[in-house]
Amino acid sequence: MEKKMPREMTGAELKSMLKSSINFKSLGGLKCDELTLPAEDKQWWRDAKIGMFVHWGLYSILGRGEWARFNEKIPKEEYEALADEFIPQDFDMREWTEIAKGFGAKYAVMVTRHHDGFSLWNSEGSYEHFTSWHRGAHRDFVGEYAAACREAGLKAGVYYSPMDWRFPGYFDPEGLPENAALMKKQCYAQVEELCSRYRPDILWYDGGWLAHKGSDTSSAWFWEPVKLNKMARSYNPKLLINPRSGWEGDFYCDEGSHEITGGIIPVPWEKNMCVCSGSSWGWMAEDPVSDFDWLIRMMVNVVCRGGNWLVNIGPDRNGKISDEIRQRMFQVGDWLRTYGESIYATAAGPYEPVDNVYGSTWHENKVYLHILDVEMFRGCVLPNTENRIQNAALFSGEKVEVAETSEGVRLTLPETAGKTGEPDTIVVLTMEEKVRAGGDAEIYFTGKE
Ligand code: GLC
Repeated sequence: MEKKMPREMTGAELKSMLKSSINFKSLGGLKCDELTLPAEDKQWWRDAKIGMFVHWGLYSILGRGEWARFNEKIPKEEYEALADEFIPQDFDMREWTEIAKGFGAKYAVMVTRHHDGFSLWNSEGSYEHFTSWHRGAHRDFVGEYAAACREAGLKAGVYYSPMDWRFPGYFDPEGLPENAALMKKQCYAQVEELCSRYRPDILWYDGGWLAHKGSDTSSAWFWEPVKLNKMARSYNPKLLINPRSGWEGDFYCDEGSHEITGGIIPVPWEKNMCVCSGSSWGWMAEDPVSDFDWLIRMMVNVVCRGGNWLVNIGPDRNGKISDEIRQRMFQVGDWLRTYGESIYATAAGPYEPVDNVYGSTWHENKVYLHILDVEMFRGCVLPNTENRIQNAALFSGEKVEVAETSEGVRLTLPETAGKTGEPDTIVVLTMEEKVRAGGDAEIYFTGKE
């Protein structure tokens, strides 16, 4: 069969297509047919929609963010001494998976080693054995995490940072090639350990760029991400890989708490952000937890544009998650336990979202209209699509009047709709047949402006 060439799209075109604040990271990664996964191998992840991210490491002792070592220029010996203090008391990984489940997540991604180089497993490949196994705790937290995820029925992802501030060669790869090569050797050994021992479902890289300059893609000459990822895939041919290794990856990433607006993005993508303020991914004592309504609207805005939502928590030095975070995660999960059929296993569309007013998702012959502003919606006419509406009702069951005209579809919501102050009012449209919507497009974002 002849292979379809994806359409190339520049940064400017991407922005204009989406008319949004979206900011995909690490565009223009190397391409490699052998690494391209067929759409069906990504389907579990597309259906999963909701994931929980965890940043936890030595920086959780300091409570000033995971970049503390670099930002504060903490001397190597001083920072590394923290490894002997990293001995979580009464910590059971099932506390995290319980929260992930409570949140409604179908997958988790755990930071196994951040830029500071401290590894949370029994890593023989770790330079100077800077690990939780060889130092204070003497525990294999990644192994415990992988087991807890499997027990809870969660897909397990591992975050891994190829770069490591402990190597002067990271900051000067051309001037100190031997030292940089040591760091690369560590990366290959550790990715192999992670993939061979724990068989993760997702490999989530971060920080391939060199000397904090350029991009992950411009550092591909150094890391050889195609070779690296072929090795990773040899342990799980269906491993999902994010785009931050310098290879284009299986999905796109939008990072941070900025709002998501604009059109449906017809490629697999994930928004990752923090449940707290986002000023740090690692634990900080007074970090305010985001508002419930705001989180629900964020989730709806992501899913109605075809994305997954990966939400980060930062446990403290003992692995404990604050009551405030726990409550908020469960509150979102409660919402999902009620309205989940309008989120999980859906696709975006068939109606294009209107910023801050509504968006839509669909599954089989049902369309879920997620209405974020009921008053504004009352004045809207939905465009006609190929799909014929059989009937319409609020999620709670109350009937919604439908008038299909040549101009479009007008829905008359009951007076009571939106009065309870819910962040999202859902209307379920039952269609005559399975919904026909745009689906994914073959697009390759070049990263060029
Ligand atoms: C940013 C931060 C990094 C964090 C990552 C998570 O790149 O700099 O510390 O791990 O986001 O996506």
